[in-house]
Amino acid sequence: MPAAGSGTGSGTETGTAEWYRHFGTVDAPGSSPCYADWSLHIADDPELIARIDQWPYNKRQPLLMLAAARLLGVRVSPYPEFRRFLDEHWAEVSRTVLSRATQTNEVGRCATLLPSLGAIAAAEGRPLALIEVGASAGLALFPDRYSYEFDDGVKVTRLGAGASGRLPKPPVLRCRTAGRVPLPDALPEVVWRAGIDLNPLDVRNPDDVAWLEALIWPEQEFRRERLRRAIAVAREHPPLLVAGDLNEQLLSLAGRAPADAALVVFHSAVMGYLSADGRARFRATMQGLAHDRGCHWLSNEGETVIIQADGSAVLPGMDASRIRGNFLLQHNGQRVAITGLHGQSLDWL
Ligand SMILES: C[S@@+](CC[C@H](N)C(=O)[O-])C[C@H]1O[C@@H](n2cnc3c(N)ncnc32)[C@H](O)[C@@H]1O
Repeated sequence: MPAAGSGTGSGTETGTAEWYRHFGTVDAPGSSPCYADWSLHIADDPELIARIDQWPYNKRQPLLMLAAARLLGVRVSPYPEFRRFLDEHWAEVSRTVLSRATQTNEVGRCATLLPSLGAIAAAEGRPLALIEVGASAGLALFPDRYSYEFDDGVKVTRLGAGASGRLPKPPVLRCRTAGRVPLPDALPEVVWRAGIDLNPLDVRNPDDVAWLEALIWPEQEFRRERLRRAIAVAREHPPLLVAGDLNEQLLSLAGRAPADAALVVFHSAVMGYLSADGRARFRATMQGLAHDRGCHWLSNEGETVIIQADGSAVLPGMDASRIRGNFLLQHNGQRVAITGLHGQSLDWL
């Protein structure tokens, strides 16, 4: 089956119609009735499936095709109108699909990483140096510049730097919590930040920004709004983003991090893009960095690509259905929380 949040990468190959049906029944319904409806119709539309099957396997992902159509201007509409749009714009849809990738940069995920980052900074007693692998435009590299509201502000409301004055208004990242989440008293200090991506997106490039917006599901205006605000924050001081494979670039980038800061390497929704060998290699690199540099590792990934010490994705003693449609957050290989795909929930274990 496709990876959780399978508008993105896919763990193993699966039939295209099945992929769209899964997206339309599991991934999309809670977030986008329109995408759920279109995907289910596509799954039952053999002529369209045959056209999609002409693309390379990793280009057939539902979210990539739907985002391409959105970029080109398709409106939220009943399926026959959407289908007509595809027929009229198929060459452009194809071009967009073949030249782009699903690179959703979901800044909301910072809310689910924040307690772990705060705990690391507190335990280390020093500021953080952050490396995100699979960073897209690098928006998750600014957890210290955003505002957070946990549980509708009932438990905690925090305003990140930049909430006032001439600086851009930060996005407010809202998150429901369950369990004993160790919410930090203050935002952690970040002294250095950098990312790696096969294709870094540039917050100053209007085409890249348009693509980031198109990747957000149609009905989720609140996500588009916080994306725009996060982009405005990132544009103030665009992050260092290295182009390349995370397995090739990580060690040399880690060597550039300031030695007196606590180094944290993190990733969300990335491991599904790697082969099993690629994931094993990454794990070995992280073990080396932990040993040589005391580096912390935060992994926020879906059920099919969670890497265990034995290389398996099986979590002993945990009901797999708790993770389905969510991510598992792990700190140095230890499970920490179940998190919403877009950072909307944090269920502490
Ligand atoms: C779904 S996006 C997630 C972006 C970001 N982590 C977030 O949570 O908002 C996955 C990103 O991983 C990148 N990626 C996939 N495979 C990679 C690899 N082998 N090395 C570096 N980046 C990779 C993609 O280009 C894409 O930008």
